Amino acid sequence: MRVSVRSSVEEIEEYKPGKLVKGAIKLSSNENPLGASPEVVRAIVGQLEAGGLELGVYPWEKNEEALKDEIARYVGVDVKNIVIGAGIDGVLDTLVKIFVDKGDEVIIPIPTFSLYESLVKIADATPVYLSRNPAANYDLPAVDMISTCNDKTRMIFLASPNNPTGNGITGDNVRTLAESVPKLMIAIDEAYVEFAEKSLVKVVNEYENVLVLRTFSKAFGLAGLRVGYAVLPGWLASIYKKVSLPFTVNNVALTAAVAALKDKEHLRKSIGLVKEGRQYLIENLQGVFKVYPSEANFVLVDVSPKKSYAVFDALLKNGITVRDCSSFRGAGDSLIRISVGTQDQNETVVAALKHFTL
Ligand SMILES: Cc1ncc(COP(=O)(O)O)c(C=O)c1O
Repeated sequence: MRVSVRSSVEEIEEYKPGKLVKGAIKLSSNENPLGASPEVVRAIVGQLEAGGLELGVYPWEKNEEALKDEIARYVGVDVKNIVIGAGIDGVLDTLVKIFVDKGDEVIIPIPTFSLYESLVKIADATPVYLSRNPAANYDLPAVDMISTCNDKTRMIFLASPNNPTGNGITGDNVRTLAESVPKLMIAIDEAYVEFAEKSLVKVVNEYENVLVLRTFSKAFGLAGLRVGYAVLPGWLASIYKKVSLPFTVNNVALTAAVAALKDKEHLRKSIGLVKEGRQYLIENLQGVFKVYPSEANFVLVDVSPKKSYAVFDALLKNGITVRDCSSFRGAGDSLIRISVGTQDQNETVVAALKHFTL
């Protein structure tokens, strides 16, 4: 007989990461095809060898402060508005602990990143799903969000650009929402913002109920090290520190993130590669399938009348993994998401998809 666990925990589904198949081209997890900057590797190895990066001691506050200072410079905000965590995932976990109580409601426009839903359910709260309209390229009107709010609504998760749809939300929509529902905490997830033309990070200064989440996993190529941060109103920063687990970002990750921020050239190259590759994928797949516009490092492709699982399997047989989006709530069964890879990888996936349609 096993010990019983909370009913909300029984019900949630395990997070399904993009598939990793040995030897296959991995275009399933929106990672940086160039990987981490060589400066990051140099900083880690150099500091380890010089004894400046001690694995036997807990992360120093001064190292955390050094990263926050560097982030503040990069984003252009006051360091008092920055908190860090183990990826956006880690920051989200703390935010849900801060804001969401049993019985509360949280608005989740779908399809989107599935962790939002899991965290809300674990908190014994209710996710309220708001469907995005594919005919409007998954745009999200402020009125729809506002009319979904009630007394129990605590938070809304807005990924911008959104995963898997690739579209962003406008600053005007966020401002309208922030002003109309001041009791609502608006969490804007900018995991992919480096690939987009604009960020909403300045909106955090304008309201007490808007925060922005960022990560080193995508444009900076550090997904394996788990570093993320939030830009949030000053009043929330001290509360965040009380609730967050201590030492969530380890010494190696702190060193790596600082080095990554300093290597502007690697960031520029990574962004350039994605923007070119994204254009290539869109132009070359457009005539064959419906391809949605994207501000992120992936493209969303509607393969109907084929099914996404069939296209996924066919690509896998050709040595390529993409994301079958049928696991995203509200995405239906004909969407695949292709991460932008190197030009060679992009050409391979285009050739395979064209071949498959014959
Ligand atoms: C919208 C969105 N937010 C957050 C994450 C996770 O970010 P991190 O690696 O910083 O935890 C992902 C990962 O795919 C994502 O798509």
